[in-house]
Amino acid sequence: ILSRFKAALPQAQTASEVASVSAAFVGPNGELTALMKIIPTLDAKERPVVGKLINVAKKTIEPMVAEAYARIEREKMAKNLGAKVDVSLPAPDFPKGTLHPLTQTIRKVCGIFRKIGFTVAEATDLETEWYCFDALNTPADHPARDAQDTLFMPKDAQIANVKKHSDELYLLRSHTSSVQIRAMLKEGAPIRIIAPGRAFRRDTVDATHSANFHQIECLYIDKGVQLTDLKAVLDYMFKELFGAKAKTRLRPSFFPFTEPSFEVDFMSPDMGRLSNRWIEIMGCGMVDPNVLKNVGIDPEIYSGYAFGLGVERVAMLMHSIDDIRHFYANDLRFLRQFS
Ligand code: PHE
Repeated sequence: ILSRFKAALPQAQTASEVASVSAAFVGPNGELTALMKIIPTLDAKERPVVGKLINVAKKTIEPMVAEAYARIEREKMAKNLGAKVDVSLPAPDFPKGTLHPLTQTIRKVCGIFRKIGFTVAEATDLETEWYCFDALNTPADHPARDAQDTLFMPKDAQIANVKKHSDELYLLRSHTSSVQIRAMLKEGAPIRIIAPGRAFRRDTVDATHSANFHQIECLYIDKGVQLTDLKAVLDYMFKELFGAKAKTRLRPSFFPFTEPSFEVDFMSPDMGRLSNRWIEIMGCGMVDPNVLKNVGIDPEIYSGYAFGLGVERVAMLMHSIDDIRHFYANDLRFLRQFS
């Protein structure tokens, strides 16, 4: 039996062939197993002799089977190496990442405005009350300044690269409108900027709210800028973003830093489930004369418009994303859809 086994095993070329050779000898229906079953029919004297022989045969077979499996694994690897590795070939490219959908949205909107002469502006995320509120004509008792809405820094916080205007608190900017102030102080008028950036609010996180989100601020100040200019630029932007048939409408609203102020709704036939329905999207208005005065621009000479657009909201509408938290979870299954 053993010599037959020794002849059969080297013939096995695959793991399953090894398994069937092994089964034919030591499996439940194998030759050695069958032999064990006749032991009780033997003479009492012969039983231990035969039993011992069978055991020796089993002990010989088992390591040989293990080695046969190892041999087949080695042969498989050697074959793969020979066939697939040509060290003279250039190495495969690293897989390319993709821009985050929020970055893509920001770049898209900034691109739309660069085409019509706007410059991208940025300013600090960490702000002071003056830049975020006072200069924007937002009085000290305005609800947006409540500690329930705005994330303030401790009174004794010291931030070397952001200068305080007066005795005031540092905060994480609750909107990008503070960039309007910094840009106008730096450049004066006329000015045309598009300013993407982070904003922070003390919001409870859910499908549509995040304590850390992104806005794009737009500001245009020049001689004789009128409400029709604002309406025209909004129409242009929404056509670029949501298709040539997109429309906008303005509804009266209120912001301390614009007068008059509006909510913008837009509508497009290319919006899937939301097609041809007014969708509330953002706030805008004509820059309040008090804001211009606060930055040393004469409102008798200059006028302008401003708006603030939520980046997450636009990206969610553009891609039918139903939960804002997808943007921050870093789940590759989500992110890879935007390549
Ligand atoms: N800052 C406002 C907000 O965050 C949006 C806005 C910007 C409105 C500019 C008017 C003009 O809601």
